[in-house]
Amino acid sequence: MRKIFSFSDTLKSNIIYIALFSLFFTAYSFAGGSLDSNKNFKTLKSFKPDPLVTNQQCLSCHKDEDPGLTADWQHSKHATAGVGCVQCHVVPKDYPNAFKDHPFTGKNWTVQVAVSSVTCAQCHEKEVKEYLTSGHSRGGAQWLAENENPHGIAMTKLAYGYEGMKGGKGIDPDFILNKGNSKADLTVSNICIQCHGTVIKLDESGKPLATTWPNDGIASLYPDGGVGNCLSCHSRHKFSAAEARQPAACGNCHLGPDHPDKEIFESSVHGHIFDTNEEDYDFSTGVQIPGKNLRAATCFTCHMSGVNLLKATHNVSLRLKWNLWAPKSFERTGKDETAGWAWWNNKKVLRGNPKAGNPNGPDAAREDMEQACSACHKTTFIDNYFARVDQDVLLYNQYRDIAQKMFTELKAKKLIKKDLWSDPFFKLSYYLWHHEGRRMRQGAAMGSPDYAHWHGVFQVMQDVREMKDIYNYRMRRLKDLKDPQKVLDLEPPMPVVTHE
Ligand code: HEC
Ligand code: HEC
Ligand code: HEC
Ligand code: HEC
Ligand code: HEC
Ligand code: HEC
Ligand code: HEC
Ligand code: HEC
Repeated sequence: MRKIFSFSDTLKSNIIYIALFSLFFTAYSFAGGSLDSNKNFKTLKSFKPDPLVTNQQCLSCHKDEDPGLTADWQHSKHATAGVGCVQCHVVPKDYPNAFKDHPFTGKNWTVQVAVSSVTCAQCHEKEVKEYLTSGHSRGGAQWLAENENPHGIAMTKLAYGYEGMKGGKGIDPDFILNKGNSKADLTVSNICIQCHGTVIKLDESGKPLATTWPNDGIASLYPDGGVGNCLSCHSRHKFSAAEARQPAACGNCHLGPDHPDKEIFESSVHGHIFDTNEEDYDFSTGVQIPGKNLRAATCFTCHMSGVNLLKATHNVSLRLKWNLWAPKSFERTGKDETAGWAWWNNKKVLRGNPKAGNPNGPDAAREDMEQACSACHKTTFIDNYFARVDQDVLLYNQYRDIAQKMFTELKAKKLIKKDLWSDPFFKLSYYLWHHEGRRMRQGAAMGSPDYAHWHGVFQVMQDVREMKDIYNYRMRRLKDLKDPQKVLDLEPPMPVVTHE
């Protein structure tokens, strides 16, 4: 039974929250001991700079030198609360992130340029812990995890080997011009890293290397064990919650042909209302009340907010029943994400847990999401809506099974090219899941008919047919020619149209 929201509930729930707060907080500090066992977290907590240093001293140089940066900070809640340059940047001289050559240092302190969530956790433990259990926190590790993760090898090979032309097993030698050229790594900093994050590396003075920093990626891994770029949604140095509540805060990563969540939202009825009725929204507060300061759902409402008596969360995976980015969708039965904790504990880049979701299982995740909907919609509407979403996910899985079966058979007969990105069959199988199949599933889940259909299932339906043509052709030719390499060498060009 869904909880029903009423105005008096806000008042009531505030009183209950205050009463429960101390109890909850005590319980919380026992959970997730990994943050507490991070030695650097403890170091920062007890650190006393000698001689004592004030924000005024930092500002004496940086105010005139960096007026924009300083003004952002001055307009932040941090400035009002007395949290300044010192609280976030001043660290012990031997701290793993320390920048030793800064012109202004003390006996036992210097500044850090790269500031990780270990620093934020001093004062925002709850948000950092929630973030660390979310799929976001694996963003940096997931695509780098080479040893433990065959998928990871494929990802780094795509980025460095193919796109950066550094080469690798099977890659066409015509497209290897940067073997051994470490500068080619700089280009990867412009692509994957800016959305996903990476392992931050420093030079001897403690300045971060250009191959790794600056980046806005969702989950960089820092030398002090810190995971996550809180600034991905709360841009520095305003660190504003109101800014992060806007859909635009998600839109700089969640867009484009492979996960067009921004476009899906904009073309949904919710997005249409948001675009045309700005005055019906107030993002300056986390207390979001339909009919008062909220008209229709935004990204933050459904995935993070405390609307309709839900608990606000920095774990964006908590309300997801399915995995809709995976080649084949599965229910999220894996509880918490683990990649971030592995990094806190032993600096290991692990694959993480793609099944992470709600610790109470996929049905609980769906109930939470429905609880958000029921702030504004009623039972039959919501139940019918999700019955269709679930069926769409299963339909996609049927297409994926057909495609995967053909792929496995061709591979077994050596009828897939070694240079995968020269192979039209491989490319189609990639577009089917990574672009069109995600659009189909995510379009249906978030109410965009254009993405669910024209950019989605319509193209998936075509992909599988084009794949079957190539499959039949190769199998037939193999009968005549006997030699799979000949089949591939003699195949006429089959350009694959990228389905935008
Ligand atoms: C005497 C003037 C001066 C004072 C005081 C000063 N800084 Fe700096 N700061 C600089 C200069 C100059 C640089 C550029 C150094 C470089 O790039 O090698 C810099 C660089 C930095 C950077 C790194 C930026 C980058 O991209 O390289 C940070 C972070 C920083 N300062 C923070 C602080 C903090 C925090 C304080 C107060 C504890 C402070 N600064 C006090 C002059 C000062
Ligand atoms: C709430 C914490 C916080 C406060 C307060 C803060 N910073 Fe930062 N600062 C950060 C974070 C986080 C980054 C980005 C680190 C990263 O990307 O790894 C950063 C980056 C920087 C940079 C490098 C970025 C650039 O654009 O060149 C400078 C310089 C800097 N801060 C100076 C300052 C100064 C001066 C103050 C005081 C007016 C200040 N910071 C206050 C957290 C803070
Ligand atoms: C020394 C303690 C301290 C540190 C370190 C710190 N904060 Fe804060 N933060 C605060 C306080 C205090 C507030 C104000 C709370 C209030 O006014 O409700 C705040 C507020 C915020 C808010 C809400 C702002 C709003 O618009 O409501 C965000 C977001 C935030 N901090 C992010 C960060 C991030 C990210 C870091 C690390 C880069 C960080 N903080 C580091 C103490 C800290
Ligand atoms: C524009 C931002 C952006 C860029 C650039 C980008 N990604 Fe992603 N990536 C995302 C988002 C957002 C998702 C989550 C999609 C979802 O949940 O449906 C994602 C998902 C993934 C996933 C699946 C999730 C997982 O944990 O396995 C992998 C793997 C991945 N990206 C690898 C890469 C690689 C490798 C590159 C560069 C060659 C890259 N991405 C470039 C934004 C980006
Ligand atoms: C700086 C880039 C960036 C921003 C900003 C961003 N995300 Fe993400 N998001 C990612 C990447 C990358 C992934 C995929 C991580 C992975 O699985 O490796 C992701 C994954 C997700 C997922 C799926 C998580 C899972 O467990 O599979 C959800 C849901 C999500 N983001 C929602 C949001 C929302 C809502 C916002 C805005 C409030 C947002 N994101 C802002 C980059 C971003
Ligand atoms: C995916 C986007 C996203 C990322 C990444 C993110 N935040 Fe937030 N943050 C939000 C949103 C949205 C809100 C508003 C939540 C609400 O009103 O319930 C918020 C609110 C906050 C607040 C204010 C909470 C309050 O009750 O007023 C703090 C503090 C905060 N974030 C800290 C952090 C820290 C620390 C990190 C890094 C671990 C971080 N955030 C990373 C989106 C994000
Ligand atoms: C009306 C509520 C709603 C809004 C608004 C909304 N979403 Fe979603 N989102 C959902 C639902 C429902 C799902 C599918 C949940 C499931 O797995 O059952 C979903 C799925 C996703 C996924 C796929 C995660 C995966 O498994 O691959 C991402 C990423 C995402 N949303 C990001 C966003 C972003 C970014 C925005 C804003 C631009 C947004 N969402 C707006 C409800 C919403
Ligand atoms: C803050 C209020 C709010 C929340 C939360 C919300 N919606 Fe809506 N939604 C609206 C409004 C307002 C409209 C436009 C009026 C209408 O058509 O009912 C709308 C329209 C829709 C529509 C298009 C109308 C139609 O008849 O097809 C769908 C579908 C929808 N919402 C689904 C959902 C789902 C699913 C959720 C939860 C994941 C959700 N909404 C959460 C306010 C909300």
